[in-house]
Amino acid sequence: MSKIVVANWKMNPQSQKEAEVLLNALSKETKNAKNTKIIICPPFPFLYISKKIKSKKVILGAQNVGKDTEGSHTGEVSSSMLSSLGARYVIVGHSERRTDGEDNKIINQKLLNLLKSKLSPILCVGERNRDKEGEYLSFVGEQIKECLSGVSKSQMANIIIAYEPIWAIGSGSIREATREEFMEMKIYIKKIISDIYGAKIAHSMIILYGGSVNPLNAGTFVSDDGADGLLVGRDSLNPKKFSAIINAIKD
Ligand code: 13P
Repeated sequence: MSKIVVANWKMNPQSQKEAEVLLNALSKETKNAKNTKIIICPPFPFLYISKKIKSKKVILGAQNVGKDTEGSHTGEVSSSMLSSLGARYVIVGHSERRTDGEDNKIINQKLLNLLKSKLSPILCVGERNRDKEGEYLSFVGEQIKECLSGVSKSQMANIIIAYEPIWAIGSGSIREATREEFMEMKIYIKKIISDIYGAKIAHSMIILYGGSVNPLNAGTFVSDDGADGLLVGRDSLNPKKFSAIINAIKD
């Protein structure tokens, strides 16, 4: 199965010019990527660059969506707007948004709106800390159950789950996760999905890893039936490193 690599640019870069330069460099560096779907998620003002994407390998995504569908919601962006700009995937529930006050109920609303607009949500889940008692597992389990509330079996085929432990994200992270830590969570997530939707849907569920992904650890997470792909922050702003990540997970 082809792998998925998502570039989450977060609040970078700072100008239209730099965004175009970065997109061109990423497209160029990844043009030989085989068996890999590359989803680039720029900040909202730079979504217009979908018109400039020349590579068939690169697909446009967004980093967030409003919880309402239209109307008097100053500063918000709807799923229909994202769809009309050419976005196909949208990250929801990123921990950086959860820190800003988004809860599972809001994320669920966003996710349902995206599905209605035929967009694919990339649902981020992950714990702040790992405790010895294993409470972090049920914490992530609750995130999944609440965020997927009301999602039908047939809609599940459009959803991607990204496991991003908060302690592994960003330059201030404590450390990277290990493959074992990811695999434990992957099995747990599949069990939660299986309990709700059945084994067949759980089996085909796409689960990504995110959190300090770099060219050195990318292969470890993905190889031998590990992650179905990666969600990359910092290293997606560096075309050479991003291309090295994609090369590292080549079959
Ligand atoms: P970093 O790769 O910078 O740790 O960011 C991960 C992330 O939050 C991607 O969504």
